[in-house]
Amino acid sequence: MKIIASPIEMQRYAENARREGATIAFVPTMGFLHEGHLTLMREGRARASILASSLFVNPTQFAPNEDFSRYPRNFARDCELMETVPVDVLFAPEPTAMYPAGSQSWVEATEVTRGLCGDHRPGHFRGVTTVVAKLFNIVKPHFALFGEKDFQQLRAIQRMVVDLNFDLEIVPVATVRERDGLAMSSRNAYLSPEERQRALAISRALKAARQCFDEGARYTAQLACAARYVLERTPGLEIEYIEAVDAETLAPLKALDRPVVVAIAARVGATRLIDNMTFSPFSN
Ligand code: PAF
Repeated sequence: MKIIASPIEMQRYAENARREGATIAFVPTMGFLHEGHLTLMREGRARASILASSLFVNPTQFAPNEDFSRYPRNFARDCELMETVPVDVLFAPEPTAMYPAGSQSWVEATEVTRGLCGDHRPGHFRGVTTVVAKLFNIVKPHFALFGEKDFQQLRAIQRMVVDLNFDLEIVPVATVRERDGLAMSSRNAYLSPEERQRALAISRALKAARQCFDEGARYTAQLACAARYVLERTPGLEIEYIEAVDAETLAPLKALDRPVVVAIAARVGATRLIDNMTFSPFSN
């Protein structure tokens, strides 16, 4: 695997590859890889002749009170895991290369980042869309793969790609779960064994929403209530939000007359976890 730290060198690599007729699939990451990332990478590997990834813990998507400095990092292990896919080229820049002194331009998808995590993490999605736009301009992919676990992030990036005419395809990939249902996340590494058990209530809550849907729910509030019932009965878990919203726009919705996403954010101890499930009234 070739490792490149310089944005200009990465651009030259991508330009040469494109000139020679290669197609580039891209999986951006913040490292501390798990099976969810590797699934994105295998999907990318199957779609293009070159698989590129990036490893950059992006400071602009963390608020000052968040876990930027303690975000889990293990560069050597991440490289070993990428080699197993295999990834062809890893872009791993320093923060000063991505945000040189004087940087002042931002990319923001406005409406789709209101509500849900956007209400609780001010500035987060602006940091995400800005860094992803920069990564697209540097890695120049034909395909970019994103997990559905970060559903609002996925929708913000899809919106940005349409609004700003990025010439690439966004490929959403279903959430990868542990055998017991916990959605895979680098932040699961923060959980003690006892907290990890409590965290399972989140996927159980989504299953309760699924049951409610299967039993014929007609309003989004019914799905959110079913999920809330489970979480409120889990000691040591603090609900940040439970919402059932339009799965495309993420706007509030009453009737279950189009695809809906039930999204949850909750804290278990000091760890903030998110998960979601989509429901389509047309697929039954
Ligand atoms: O999902 C992530 O890991 C990050 O938000 C991303 C897309 C790599 C941008 O920093």
